[in-house]
Amino acid sequence: MDKKKIIIDCDPGIDDSLAIMLALKSDELDVKGLTIVSGNVHASKGAENALRILKEIGRLDIPVYIGDGSPLERELITAEDTHGEDGLGETFLPRVEGVNYKEGAVDFILKSLREEDELSIIAIGPLTNIAKALETDKETMRKLKELVVMGGAFKSFGNCSQVAEFNFWVDPHAAEKVFNELHRNITMVGLDVTREIVLTPNYIEMLKQFKHPLADLIVKITKFYVDFHWAQERTLGCVINDPLAIAYFIDSSICSGEEYYVDIVTEGKAIGMSLVDEGDFYRKEANCLVLTEVNSKAFMEMFLTRLIPEHKKDILNVLNNPKYSYQNQKFDK
Ligand code: BDR
Ligand code: CA
Repeated sequence: MDKKKIIIDCDPGIDDSLAIMLALKSDELDVKGLTIVSGNVHASKGAENALRILKEIGRLDIPVYIGDGSPLERELITAEDTHGEDGLGETFLPRVEGVNYKEGAVDFILKSLREEDELSIIAIGPLTNIAKALETDKETMRKLKELVVMGGAFKSFGNCSQVAEFNFWVDPHAAEKVFNELHRNITMVGLDVTREIVLTPNYIEMLKQFKHPLADLIVKITKFYVDFHWAQERTLGCVINDPLAIAYFIDSSICSGEEYYVDIVTEGKAIGMSLVDEGDFYRKEANCLVLTEVNSKAFMEMFLTRLIPEHKKDILNVLNNPKYSYQNQKFDK
């Protein structure tokens, strides 16, 4: 089987770290590198975190490239309140020694696209690096096979304002540029689908019981995130947005949606909003597949069994037990 070649553009970040783990535990993917953008934390912190995660999973062979520190026009607003002072839930894992990240995320993206056919990008942070690459060399960017973006919200409310999702809100000008100028397959994995992906207290308890290094790491880095979710919105567990973009890229049957023209609001009260033109007011060609439905059980199964394959049987038992798995229960939305 030919592996699908990808670059992950990210801002690690707790859920970014989970996404990196899932990608590197998936045989279908050939991860060419990680490019780091400022978002959850400044890119310099994010790059150190990327190295920490790569070390934990024994994949320091994957190169890490850092992008510019600031969004295209807006001042950077980070999310240490959500991801912790260190961006990894205040676990303060030791700094990785002996391997460094490199400068030049945008150059790495463009060079990789020139050298490789069929390369895709999964972008799970603000779209600054992608927009800058587009600004630098549009033609090369249009060689991109697919761009899967975690960001935006269609029918769902936002997480930075009623209408804006964090990644688009941090750098709305970048998102606006990418959606309007890439002219390539974009998939929007927005809050409509990612809000359905909850690492519940039951799953966390199961992970604790495994006494497995990666399971322990997941519990450790999500603890702060869980506390944030309770304090912020009185929800139990935590929503893990970013790994859904990876899972969807591996198996597109996990989500479904519709194609629309999507624009991003760059100023005013609705700054950062993804404006999905369902009513065809703009009379513009669709530029994006907007995902609206997700099979959260299929996601959880992929996510947990790939990260902790040694406990596949226990994971499936828990996932298939309606007492423990919310995915087996019927809720009114
Ligand atoms: C997105 O914002 C970040 O906090 C997460 O890492 C995710 O990419 C969700 O809105
Ligand atoms: Ca992210």
